[in-house]
Amino acid sequence: MEYDLNTLILSATDSDIEKAAAIIRDGGLVAFPTETVYGLGADAFNEEAVKKIYEAKGRPQDNPTIVHICDISELEKLTDDITDDIKKMAEAFWPGPMTMVMWKKRSIPMATTGGLNTVGVRLPSEEIARELIRKAGSPIAAPSANISGAPSPTKAEHVIKDMNGRIDAVICGTACKHGIESTVIDMTADPPVILRPGVVTAEMAGLTLGKEVRIDPAVNQKIDGEFIPKAPGMKYKHYAPEAEVTVFMGAKPKVRKTMDEAASLLQSKGKSVAVIEFHDAETAARELFDKLRKADDEGMEYVYIAAIPEEGIGLAVMNRMLKAAGYNIVTC
Ligand code: TXA
Ligand code: MG
Repeated sequence: MEYDLNTLILSATDSDIEKAAAIIRDGGLVAFPTETVYGLGADAFNEEAVKKIYEAKGRPQDNPTIVHICDISELEKLTDDITDDIKKMAEAFWPGPMTMVMWKKRSIPMATTGGLNTVGVRLPSEEIARELIRKAGSPIAAPSANISGAPSPTKAEHVIKDMNGRIDAVICGTACKHGIESTVIDMTADPPVILRPGVVTAEMAGLTLGKEVRIDPAVNQKIDGEFIPKAPGMKYKHYAPEAEVTVFMGAKPKVRKTMDEAASLLQSKGKSVAVIEFHDAETAARELFDKLRKADDEGMEYVYIAAIPEEGIGLAVMNRMLKAAGYNIVTC
């Protein structure tokens, strides 16, 4: 595939967002910031445009995109089945980092939902994203704006590195507030099930709905050839930099000692290694993908990274970290 597009670099001014919206209306691709990660958007109802997203990312055809809306009233364009639980979740967590999977309207192209009869919908809190959708006049299908398999982009420079020449435009905003992708929750199940953990936790959803919300067993578990996860995205290699990543688990002082010793050993053999440690889960979420990308930019061959407790948002961070490492774990 040859890419000879000239990617327009846009800012978040009103006139630039209007330019970006015109590109979406014409069936083009625009990357834009959200509060989670940057998205790569196309008109969700334009099948040809959505197909270009898959091409630009090198994304497997059966991995559905998330459809972004700018107002709760747009939900009616996407589903006929707005349940009480969907209303409760929307009221509690939208606009924000949560995607609900629901039965789709037939008018949504199958390319948008990866051939599924359901659609994942999100109302982002990032005003630039909402303004783009508003001006485009249509919901926007958008996976994360990275080459398939690479760490998600949390800064405009990450998008430009992966997508320059492959897409029509990128709106450059600031670094993403949360830094990891939205919680994906399957509302077609009762009680609903978390398919991808995020900032909105199972506990938070459970309190809102007044019922126990479980996490899909495929989360934080190595997936073998036999297992078919409900979120198709879970079965692919994900979030991985070029460098070989190892996660160190155990008590903090022991992890630090083991990582340092292992790093020194590698360095004594002339190998390069980045050692990464986070002090709280929010910072880990915000910085994980950026640090993994930085290790590649600096030509590191290995990344050693300390696990964080799988509590609250820590569960979502560990989900991304373990996938980035291909479940390469050292227990200390
Ligand atoms: O925070 C986010 O969700 C970001 C920003 C741009 O909104 N988007 C994002 O999209 O992370 P993506 O395509 O990288 O991840 C979407 C995930 C995949 O694991 C996909 O399989 C799952 O959501 N998904 C989407 N629609 C689904 C559906 N109808 N049923 C089950 N899983 C679905
Ligand atoms: Mg993604």
